[in-house]
Amino acid sequence: MKKLPVIDFHTHILPHMDDGSRNTEMSLDMLREMKESGVDIAVATSHYYHRNESVDRFLARREEMLSHLFEKAAGEQIPAVIPGAEVAFYFGIEEEKELDRLCIAGTRALLLEMPFASWTSYELNAVSSLCYDRKLTVILAHYERFAEFQKENKYYSELAKLPVLIQINAASVLPLFSGRRWIKMFGEGQAHLLGSDAHNMSSRAPNLSKARALLGKKLGEEALVKIDETGAKLLGLAGGSAAERKE
Ligand SMILES: [Fe+2]
Repeated sequence: MKKLPVIDFHTHILPHMDDGSRNTEMSLDMLREMKESGVDIAVATSHYYHRNESVDRFLARREEMLSHLFEKAAGEQIPAVIPGAEVAFYFGIEEEKELDRLCIAGTRALLLEMPFASWTSYELNAVSSLCYDRKLTVILAHYERFAEFQKENKYYSELAKLPVLIQINAASVLPLFSGRRWIKMFGEGQAHLLGSDAHNMSSRAPNLSKARALLGKKLGEEALVKIDETGAKLLGLAGGSAAERKE
């Protein structure tokens, strides 16, 4: 069987886009580190904040940074970089006409960063509309990072029951961050994708391999195959649709 690519679904590797990589050298170091640790594809999910800039402006900046990076990386063995965005949820997002343009290139998959607050029926309905009316594959970015804001809030679990994909940060499955709960989600098929959410080479460095090793140890290699299959389908590298996993 052909080996599926290892995909890092959440990275801030593009230089000068957000609070991630500060320059092209740092971006290249991050990509080299990813390659070294077995990552084949990095989805570049720079932050997009509706309040700060238009979609046109964001995409123009992203294009410029991508070409700059590719130029500097010429001839180097680094992971393939696929442009995307980490779109911060905002009021009225479900009506946003330009939203499709922020999906991961070549897909209808949108990495969505929910509010760091207690979610309400408003968020539930808006995400539901993105799934059912707009027919987007919504990827909830680092779902685990919102747990502390929800406590007994039913909307936290209700959102996860929509036909969304759940992305967990690599660091969060490690024991230091009480990873057991999130490992269990992968084991039960309720979490689907891993991302490093790498921002730099120090405090938030690329770290997918550690998390994969642990997931493989706790859940067996088939858990990694499932993650890789879901990712490959999402990017159109394998047959079927990733959203089918939840149906
Ligand atoms: Fe992020």
